Amino acid sequence: MSVLDEKPLPLQTLLRVDSVSMSFGGIQALNEVSFDVKAGTIHSVIGPNGAGKTTLFNVITGAYVPDRGRILYEEQEVQGRKVHELVRQGIARTFQNVELFGSMSVLENILVGRHVRTRCGFLGAMGRWSWVKKEEVEAKRRALELLEFVGLVDFAHHRSEDLPFGWQRFLEIGRALGADPRLLLLDEPASGLNAVETQRLGDLLERIRGQGITLLLVEHDMSLTMGISDLIVVLHQGRKLAEGTPKEIQSNDEVIAAYLGSDRESFP
Ligand SMILES: Nc1ncnc2c1ncn2[C@@H]1O[C@H](COP(=O)(O)OP(=O)(O)OP(=O)(O)O)[C@@H](O)[C@H]1O
Ligand SMILES: [Mg+2]
Repeated sequence: MSVLDEKPLPLQTLLRVDSVSMSFGGIQALNEVSFDVKAGTIHSVIGPNGAGKTTLFNVITGAYVPDRGRILYEEQEVQGRKVHELVRQGIARTFQNVELFGSMSVLENILVGRHVRTRCGFLGAMGRWSWVKKEEVEAKRRALELLEFVGLVDFAHHRSEDLPFGWQRFLEIGRALGADPRLLLLDEPASGLNAVETQRLGDLLERIRGQGITLLLVEHDMSLTMGISDLIVVLHQGRKLAEGTPKEIQSNDEVIAAYLGSDRESFP
């Protein structure tokens, strides 16, 4: 029985990961992982390669069903709900490997992310009814606003695959924002970015939080993570090794040992 059966979630808890386990054949990707994410915070998940970070994201977003345990988002179980339904409920994500519609324009990629918030959907928006037209105009206005927010408005009509890689990451974030999320999961958003872009990313993440959106971040760039996170969960071989403030994590001997034992030498 979970503690949740006895007491309600504190109001500010947006997401609860409750004893989640998931294995693939003989690999235990997640092993009894539990933590809460409070609304309005930036919560990061770090850990060496293969620690289970992406698997955790896949479980939270409904892409995978865990073997054991449960995920509660706004006090409702995620398990058994479809990915698109969860997007509509306010959970959006970006991927470790950028996943855009390469041949579509930058603007169209944002509109695709937006279609969950329109009545007829972007692809279906070909009717002649006035509310469809009005919705299209509004979707475009909002998409341009989002492009301005992520710094890509001047490239609205470029093919997205022609953008430099780092900019594609910003576009992917813009597309996720198009779904009006309350919880945004970003899987290694700084991967492949140069130092200037990483700084811009940090600034963007702060501005996203400033809009009242809660962020759950998987990231290997330690200076970014340590600089912007309220709390950090450390995964190691599928288990939660530690959780705490950046300061606590940086001075945690077990965490340092886990990083030294891995092929990552990026831990500060
Ligand atoms: N679909 C899958 N099928 C089989 N094994 C998988 C699958 N997804 C993940 N795994 C395995 O589960 C473990 C955790 O993988 P995961 O991708 O969650 O790690 P990660 O922490 O995101 O690593 P990285 O930092 O390299 O992205 C790894 O051993 C991986 O090989
Ligand atoms: Mg991963």
